[in-house]
Amino acid sequence: MLSRKVAAQLKELETPFYLYDINLLRQTLESVSSESKKYGYKVHYAIKANNDDYLLSIIKEYGIGIDCASGNEVRKAIESGFAADTVVYAGVGKRDKEIRYAIEQGILAINCESIEELQVVNQIAGEMGKKADVGLRVNPDIDPKTNRCIDTGQADSKFGISYDEILEEAELIKSLENINIIGIHIHIGSQIRELHVFENMCNKANAIVEKLESLGFKFRIVDVGGGLGINYDVPENEPIPNFASLFAIVHEYLNVGDKEVHFEFGRSIVGECGELITSVLYNKTTATGRRLLIIDASMTELIRPMLYGSYHNIENITSQEEVCKKYTVVGTACESTDVFDENVSLKKSKRGDLLAIKSAGAYGRSMASQYNMHDLPRGVYSDQLCEK
Ligand SMILES: Cc1ncc(COP(=O)(O)O)c(C=O)c1O
Repeated sequence: MLSRKVAAQLKELETPFYLYDINLLRQTLESVSSESKKYGYKVHYAIKANNDDYLLSIIKEYGIGIDCASGNEVRKAIESGFAADTVVYAGVGKRDKEIRYAIEQGILAINCESIEELQVVNQIAGEMGKKADVGLRVNPDIDPKTNRCIDTGQADSKFGISYDEILEEAELIKSLENINIIGIHIHIGSQIRELHVFENMCNKANAIVEKLESLGFKFRIVDVGGGLGINYDVPENEPIPNFASLFAIVHEYLNVGDKEVHFEFGRSIVGECGELITSVLYNKTTATGRRLLIIDASMTELIRPMLYGSYHNIENITSQEEVCKKYTVVGTACESTDVFDENVSLKKSKRGDLLAIKSAGAYGRSMASQYNMHDLPRGVYSDQLCEK
């Protein structure tokens, strides 16, 4: 773990901040690039996971495209130098100006999530005198066996168009003159660790593609989204996620002929390379005997534990103590739910010690807020620290 190795240098820096292990990011990118090339798969990075400029500049070196969830993310991708024809854009609530911008830029696919959205894209493209390339985001009704807060492919989810509705509206969809339906898009959820779930997804995708093509659709692309999970429990055991296994499963189970197969990875690309480094401010014990460790980060820097109940491994990287104690690690924000974890076993911790909250590279800094007028956390990059 990088922060442990460079703890002495980190002591000089004002906390809290995100520390990025650039070597690990590069190794991860090398893995996803080389494994995907074996099958000719195309990879997009889900920029929502982390839109840090320096990380994006490195990701770009690996010839990866971008997956976006808003017009501003599309803009960020384009302004960061990613080619428009490698950019895909999903989201249930695209605003007109966002759709207009995506059409203007000529991105690879606007992945539409309702029949009404298809009609709006069709209308806007018509007004612009253009034809928009569109993917149908299908809700495949699959349980991805992950945290309920981050599953997106079950029948009741707000994401995607139900398969039945696509079948019912097939003629209407085909009649929309200003859109090219170039593919289907499926994303079943995030932090998926039971990889057999992807077998179900492929089986569903096969059936959906076959049925829709029998109705006259002709697809060039099958985009199966992201979702590959990382090891939050013991990140040291698995710093690079198992892209090879996922691709092997998709290769075995997805039967869509010579269509392009696309992936949209967020967490699996940047999750493990980032740690939130924070200082211990105070120790105190509640009247009920709960030992609190109050740190200078909060839900404003990393909201996942408070939002989803997510677990992040925490380590005191500077304490010289032999003894471990159990702490409830709480932040500075004026909210009772601002708790990183309960009963965390840490080396005895005192004011000024540094803690690393691990596996925080994805959905950490990009979800940061300025609640309580906190400053937004900055990034510190391993290759820019003095000792490498
Ligand atoms: C449509 C879409 N694609 C890709 C992703 C990236 O998912 P992950 O970070 O789990 O790979 C998400 C995450 O929310 C998403 O909504």
